[in-house]
Amino acid sequence: MLHAARLPAWRWPCGVAPGTLPASPTRKDTTIARIAITRAVSPALAHCELSHLPRTPIDLDLARRQHAAYEQALRDVGCEVRQLAEQPAQPDSVFVEDTAIVLDEVAVITRPGAVSRRGEVDSIAPALAAFRELLRIEAPATLDGGDVLRLDRVLHVGASARSNADGVAQLARLVAPFGYAVEAVPIRGCLHLKSAVTRIDADRLLLNPDWVDAGAFPGFHGIAIDPAEPNAANALRIGGALIHPASCPRTHDILRRAGLDVRSVQMSETEKAEGGVTCCSLVFDA
Ligand code: GLY
Repeated sequence: MLHAARLPAWRWPCGVAPGTLPASPTRKDTTIARIAITRAVSPALAHCELSHLPRTPIDLDLARRQHAAYEQALRDVGCEVRQLAEQPAQPDSVFVEDTAIVLDEVAVITRPGAVSRRGEVDSIAPALAAFRELLRIEAPATLDGGDVLRLDRVLHVGASARSNADGVAQLARLVAPFGYAVEAVPIRGCLHLKSAVTRIDADRLLLNPDWVDAGAFPGFHGIAIDPAEPNAANALRIGGALIHPASCPRTHDILRRAGLDVRSVQMSETEKAEGGVTCCSLVFDA
C-alpha cells in the first residue's frame, strides 16, 4: 500500500474533468486511499448483452441517477470515486468489474468473454496503471472479472459461459508468483460466479444454493439468500458495510439479523442489463 503523499498522480486518462470527482466527505483515514473506479452509464446501455433475462426497456436517465446514488454509497463507506468517461459504443461498459482483477500486488487486465465487451479494457488499463503493475489475459483465453471471487489467497473462478479453461489456467500462471492459488468453481443458471456468491465478512459468504454449491468454499460459512430473490447473492463488501440492491428486501432482513450493516441502493435499470452491485466498480486500496 502507498501512503497518500506517495500516490501516483491521477492522469485523467479517459477525459474526466477533475472537478467531477469530489473526495469522500465521510473519509476518516487520511493516509490510505480506498479507490473505487466506476464508469458513467453508456447511452447504449439498452443494447447490452443479455444471457438470462428478456430484453425490457431501460430508462437511461433513471439508470444515470441510480448510478450516481451508487457512487455516493461508495463515498459513504469511505471510497474515493474515480469515474471514467462514458463509452457510447460499449453498451455494457458501466460494468467495470469484468475488465480487471485488482490484487494488492498487481492488476490483471481481463479478456472479456463477450466479443462486444473486449474493447472495454482499453480505457481501464491506463486508469489502473497509475496504481498497479499490469498483467494481461491473452487470446484464446477469456475471463470476466465477475467470475473471480477472491477469498484470501485463493481466487475462485466461475466456470461460466464467459470464462474459459484457458482463462483459468492463464490467471493461475499470472498470479502464482504472488502467492495466489486459482480454483475453478462450477456454476449453473447464472451469468457470473459473483451472481451466485459473494463474501460478506471474514468467514461468511452470501450465496444462492441453486446456482453454486457452498462446498466449493471450504472454511467459509454460507448464508443462503431468500429464495424469492434469486439475484440477492451479489453484495459489495467494503470495510464493515455491505452495499446491496434495494430489490432484495427479504435478504436484507436476513443480513441484518446476521449483524451486517446493509446499505441499500436502487439498481433497477442496471439489473435489467444483468448487472449487480459488484459489477459497477473496481474497489481497491491505493
Ligand atoms: N450485460 C452484462 C453482461 O452480459 O456482461
